Amino acid sequence: MDYNETVPIAAQNVTAALNALASDAQQHMGMPRFAGIDKALKSLRPSQSILCMHPEKLHEAARLFVENFPGHSLYAVKSNPDPYVLRKLYEAGITHFDVASLGEVKLLRDMFPRAHLAFMNPIKSREAIRAAYFQYDVRDFVIDTFEEMHKILEETDNAKDLLIVVRIAMPKGSAACQLTGKFGCTPEAGAELLKAADKAAHRVGISFHVGSQTLEPQSYADAIARAGEIIRKSGVKLDVFDLGGGFPIQGLGMEVPPLTDFFDVIRESLTKIKLPKSCEVWSEPGRALCGNGSTLLVRVELRKGDVLYINDGSYGNMFEVCAMKWQNSAVLMRPARKNRKPASKTLTPFRFYGPTCDSVDYMQGPFQLPEDVCEGDWIALAGMGAYGSASTSKFNGFYSDLQVEIVPDTTATAGRKRHVRGAAYLKLVE
Ligand SMILES: Cc1ncc(COP(=O)(O)O)c(C=O)c1O
Repeated sequence: MDYNETVPIAAQNVTAALNALASDAQQHMGMPRFAGIDKALKSLRPSQSILCMHPEKLHEAARLFVENFPGHSLYAVKSNPDPYVLRKLYEAGITHFDVASLGEVKLLRDMFPRAHLAFMNPIKSREAIRAAYFQYDVRDFVIDTFEEMHKILEETDNAKDLLIVVRIAMPKGSAACQLTGKFGCTPEAGAELLKAADKAAHRVGISFHVGSQTLEPQSYADAIARAGEIIRKSGVKLDVFDLGGGFPIQGLGMEVPPLTDFFDVIRESLTKIKLPKSCEVWSEPGRALCGNGSTLLVRVELRKGDVLYINDGSYGNMFEVCAMKWQNSAVLMRPARKNRKPASKTLTPFRFYGPTCDSVDYMQGPFQLPEDVCEGDWIALAGMGAYGSASTSKFNGFYSDLQVEIVPDTTATAGRKRHVRGAAYLKLVE
């Protein structure tokens, strides 16, 4: 079929195309596989957005932590609980997980019966604590109050094999997404909780979160020093030092140092607080493991000046893009059709509205795109693997669960890519 002559389409075409692929050896973990985003568009010709999964980027991110972080890296499942993502990370060596709910506990136990699960939500229901301990073999729980510690002790029938981790609140650091406020106790309460946990539990730990998409390694150094002071005041011999998530990714419109710079600062800061030799060091990366693992493909339905009305938004895969005002790297993909010219090489800033009738469904960006972007063009948004697909809703009847796996194209002629000042124009040709 010649893509040039076809009109973009309806959902049944996608279903037919997916069914055809499903019977084919290209099927991968229930997902069709393509050697390039352009090939996925040409084959599926969808009307809804597509989440493109990049297995090699998930692998690369996991190996970076496994090989360079000085301790265990627990994947924060909440950032993307897609079984495809979990499987890729596990196969690359991530076998420890930070779970936030009984739902995540069940999912992980079902997929990886031997994985280490730590229940790191400071406020859990009694039912979730009991089931996690007695049915799913979870031994590690976080707290930030005495009340939560008592709940855990009661619901585990005063178990003798618990690790209780005390979560400390950290002041505002260099994170683009601050997490101060909801969880974490004061330094004074932290020292008291550590002492109490030390008496009540088999093992005791401390944790914090410096905020998501943290931009400066120094924020970890400050937090580690602060936590070190609390440990010293408590006089407790610590078993676990958990410095949380927050590691940043490229592609969201801000400069970030390489993760190895963060690891170097962390290593140096840890030596200063003199933890016991037996103390385990943990991190809980979410975004840094899955963020670059997906690209979102959206279609322009209408243009009004510098505003593009697209087929995904804040109630779909773009909740964080809206809330955090991310400026994702964007690449224009223009289907080759009669009377269509190649896109302009001049980039200008655009804003997006999503498909629902809600004005909140707005992504301010700005997103740099060719000045002549128009209805029918597709836009590939980088860095869409964390928190977006994890929080989609069906508000206003819009929803896309179309996912494909993109593997590197090994053929020389594929794609016909031309770069345009930082973005790329990609003409789809047969
Ligand atoms: C307890 C906890 N750990 C880890 C994470 C992951 O954070 P990030 O995605 O910034 O690495 C979060 C995110 O909210 C969290 O709440």
